[in-house]
Amino acid sequence: MGILTEDMKQVVRQQRMGFIATVCPDGSPNLSPKGTATVWDDDHLVFANLDSPGTIENLGHNPACEINVIDAFIRKGYRFKGTAELITNGALFEEIKDAYSTGGRSIQKSNLPAKGYVLMTVTKAAPLASPGYTPGKTETQMREEWTGYWAAVQESNS
Ligand SMILES: Cc1cc2nc3c(=O)[nH]c(=O)nc-3n(C[C@H](O)[C@H](O)[C@H](O)COP(=O)(O)O)c2cc1C
Repeated sequence: MGILTEDMKQVVRQQRMGFIATVCPDGSPNLSPKGTATVWDDDHLVFANLDSPGTIENLGHNPACEINVIDAFIRKGYRFKGTAELITNGALFEEIKDAYSTGGRSIQKSNLPAKGYVLMTVTKAAPLASPGYTPGKTETQMREEWTGYWAAVQESNS
């Protein structure tokens, strides 16, 4: 059994959005969204390098990274810490590319042209929950509240 639980894998696959933090050469943080972030296997997350020059440069200097994935409706999610490598050729590159283009390994199909793939080895995984979960507040109540909020936002933005 790997570090990723079934619930972690389900949340990551469902959300189709992770924010990845890397470290710039000057020590400052770099955070950017990756809609292709998903599960590769029980110990690895992956995303496509479509347009991530800062993240890729940083990983070249320092492989340390963290990915946060949150369900905005239940205000819960996970944070994953580890190291990542850029895969740009070879058998593993072909395997990942094939999974994105066919939807294998439960990966959401994407035919956007990837310059490579970032494969993250997760060494630490922890749950995240909003402090809005005050005693007695249920996930169902939270979901109702935020479903209403987002419906109202969409209504006012349309
Ligand atoms: C919703 C959303 C999803 C994105 N998904 C990806 C992605 O999966 N892969 C990627 O390379 N860029 C993706 N991007 C674009 C990068 O996040 C964006 O180009 C960013 O400025 C790159 O910053 P970085 O070079 O510091 O990583 C996405 C952007 C948004 C807004």
